[in-house]
Amino acid sequence: MSAPIRKKRIAILISGRGSNMVSLIEAARAPDYPAEIVLVLSNRPDAAGLVRAREAGIPASAIDHKAFPDRARFDAALQAELEAAGVELIVLAGFMRILTDAFVEAWAGRMINIHPSLLPLFKGTHTHERALEAGVRLHGCTVHYVVPELDAGPIVAQAAVPVLPGDDADTLSARVIVQEHRLYPAALALIAGGGAVLDGGRVRFTAQERDAGAAILSL
Ligand code: GAR
Repeated sequence: MSAPIRKKRIAILISGRGSNMVSLIEAARAPDYPAEIVLVLSNRPDAAGLVRAREAGIPASAIDHKAFPDRARFDAALQAELEAAGVELIVLAGFMRILTDAFVEAWAGRMINIHPSLLPLFKGTHTHERALEAGVRLHGCTVHYVVPELDAGPIVAQAAVPVLPGDDADTLSARVIVQEHRLYPAALALIAGGGAVLDGGRVRFTAQERDAGAAILSL
């Protein structure tokens, strides 16, 4: 019998509905998934995702950013919760609060994000509207490491979708989110399981994962 795998301890940070969080929680139920979700935190007490996390049996709490005088003190409160839970890797899933450079540096190489565009195109907000305005034929989502510059960190994985005639931001975002739910659990498994490693500011797949077809994630 093989020894049980050591699972990386993950915190998911959210601000809203938490559909990516749910896809991660569901994936992490598999016995051979290399990560476990130990904590969900939201900067908004009214985030619907908090309820969904608790329904799934995951400890979930809000740290209301409005209760803090500045970003540094909000981030310090976040840090305390993460340390108390023994978190090893932070997964941002629709977390819409800018973190201080100091916090990001402290978690360098240990914090990832999903962004609803094919980075480096369309950093920031309103990505679906801007993709439509630009007339691109392909759009999608990106999982990347977090660095102080917004949406600029090393890319782990991407998934692409077509932009179809007649699309509006709602139809396009609905097509992208299906891929987000597929991509994020796969990318987290790659990182937590050691199949993807940071190497000189780029993400490299290990030989084992290349053989296993992990590069297919880069659609
Ligand atoms: C997702 O589309 C995610 O990519 C995006 O917010 C949505 C959250 O949905 N994130 C960003 O825009 C980050 N800049 P969810 O709460 O249902 O997962």
